[in-house]
Amino acid sequence: MVDVNGRVAVITGASRGLGAGLARHFAGRGMRLGLCARSDPVLPGSDDVVATSVDVAEAGALDAFAAEVAGRFGAIDLWVNNAAVLEPIGPLRDTEAGDIAAHLAVNVMGVVHGTQAYIRHLRARGGEGVLANLSSGAADHGYAGWAAYCASKAAVDRLTEVTNLEEADHGLRAYAFSPGVVDTDMQHLIRRCPPERFPAVGRFLELARTQAFNSPAHVATHLLAVAFDPAQRPGGYKVRVPNEVR
Ligand SMILES: NC(=O)c1ccc[n+]([C@@H]2O[C@H](COP(=O)([O-])OP(=O)(O)OC[C@H]3O[C@@H](n4cnc5c(N)ncnc54)[C@H](OP(=O)(O)O)[C@@H]3O)[C@@H](O)[C@H]2O)c1
Repeated sequence: MVDVNGRVAVITGASRGLGAGLARHFAGRGMRLGLCARSDPVLPGSDDVVATSVDVAEAGALDAFAAEVAGRFGAIDLWVNNAAVLEPIGPLRDTEAGDIAAHLAVNVMGVVHGTQAYIRHLRARGGEGVLANLSSGAADHGYAGWAAYCASKAAVDRLTEVTNLEEADHGLRAYAFSPGVVDTDMQHLIRRCPPERFPAVGRFLELARTQAFNSPAHVATHLLAVAFDPAQRPGGYKVRVPNEVR
């Protein structure tokens, strides 16, 4: 495993689910962390953790958070835009436009805010950095009932691609990082959906029956290898975590 002891990472959406799992794994490998979510991050503030309440939809909040983390730990080696929502779920024709706008404010503008904050940090300090924007199979394939989520994750992929075009010569590598299926609150929400709102629900119920999930530790190991192990550096900007073999 690549040595990441002492490296600095920021994770948004680190109160529960995958973000919390990444935080625990990174901390266990000796990293210093900046963690945020709207509610309390999974690890409290300490000598090695800056933990703050941040809504990624708020312009400027992540700039301030980046400055706080850099003030404590110096250069940020890895920035993970993990925070996202899944709802609204259901046919587009029945969905309130305001609910879609609220979704895009988190899943698209939240990633824009995090990406801008990290680019500004790197440009000011110089040096190299890695950006991981959490993507999904929903970026590549439409699912009936997930208009907002599919649109937002496709947007994340394009934002990531453009970020590379603009920043690769300035030390930034950006990845649209699909974790595979991880059993979090988001998956619980999916499995509770009636088929009339989400017709593909049976596929996700079957994944749960067979426990065909990627663990957060498996995703975290893969992400750190992509970020810091030159031998495992991907060729393109899209990365999908392979299914965990147990
Ligand atoms: N789970 C999967 O199978 C799967 C598959 C593909 C991709 N992904 C992606 O992986 C990422 C993590 O998903 P997950 O399954 O862990 O989701 P989750 O269990 O629903 O957790 C989402 C996290 O995002 C935070 N968050 C939501 N809105 C926020 C906001 N406005 N500002 C700051 N933080 C916010 C939540 O914390 P608060 O509520 O406290 O703010 C929580 O910590 C997402 O980008 C998701 O799209 C997940």
